[in-house]
Amino acid sequence: MDTGVYARKFFLFPSCLFVHFVVTAVVIMSFRITILCENSVGPISGTLGEHGFSALIEPSQGEPLLFDTGQGLTLLHNARRMNRDLSAVGSVVLSHGHYDHCGGLLPLLSECGPKRIHAHPGIFVPRFRIKDTGECYPIGMPHSRDQLETAGGTFELSNEFREVAPGMFLTGEVPRATAFETGDRGLYGDCTGQDVDKTPDDQSMILETDKGLVIIMGCCHAGLVNTLEHAAYSMGRRDIYTVIGGTHLGFCGQEQLEKTISKLKEWRVQKVAASHCTGFAASARLSREMPKEFQVAHVGYTLEV
Ligand SMILES: [Fe+2]
Ligand SMILES: [Fe+2]
Repeated sequence: MDTGVYARKFFLFPSCLFVHFVVTAVVIMSFRITILCENSVGPISGTLGEHGFSALIEPSQGEPLLFDTGQGLTLLHNARRMNRDLSAVGSVVLSHGHYDHCGGLLPLLSECGPKRIHAHPGIFVPRFRIKDTGECYPIGMPHSRDQLETAGGTFELSNEFREVAPGMFLTGEVPRATAFETGDRGLYGDCTGQDVDKTPDDQSMILETDKGLVIIMGCCHAGLVNTLEHAAYSMGRRDIYTVIGGTHLGFCGQEQLEKTISKLKEWRVQKVAASHCTGFAASARLSREMPKEFQVAHVGYTLEV
């Protein structure tokens, strides 16, 4: 496994002296990222796909963290097939309050014990998709906060950028800065079609490695360019090595796709492991435009960095 360097400065202020010492503590960090839930599966025997996303992040030191939980139909099964022990997971991050990212939380808590859960305070609001046909159906959190807390979940909710474990950060709420990332137009807070849901709770994970930043997205409703700009600003560095996960480009217009590809090239992102809500058409375009960088992050995809 390659290594990443995680450095932090600790400032010591001895009360009896009018000087301070600066001590730099260097901790070597590396990560193994494994996709546990996704729409498609790789060649690992017996694994199953579902519309959803979940990635297990195992750092070289400290406990594993689970980013999203899928719908709940495949998480525990796929983890078993891949010999990943989810009882060792201490914290879960929920990227946003959609069923295909949060539905596996209750089965996880029930089977694998109590967990801390990092998310945005807005994850529990009602969510609906209204199709072009007018059909309206719920897509929000399938379980209540009470149910999840009773099952052993402890929520730590914040809309701020923060470090949730050494070398592992959450973007917090992502500012919608670009004009071309207009988002998914089928999302609403109710079935009247008046209450547009811009999914402000959407946030992504940032891993700090010696190769650069690794960004893991759930659905990326905030837009990939907005997310990368915010991650770079928050981390104080613009070397984005890899993006992994849902880009939502499959639900957006052509202009957004073209401008996102231009930005990924401009940033010289080395790996674009897109999946979930990226969809076949946008994936095909990314593959043609970035043939060396593009990969499909299906169930079983693993990145060591
Ligand atoms: Fe999704
Ligand atoms: Fe979503």
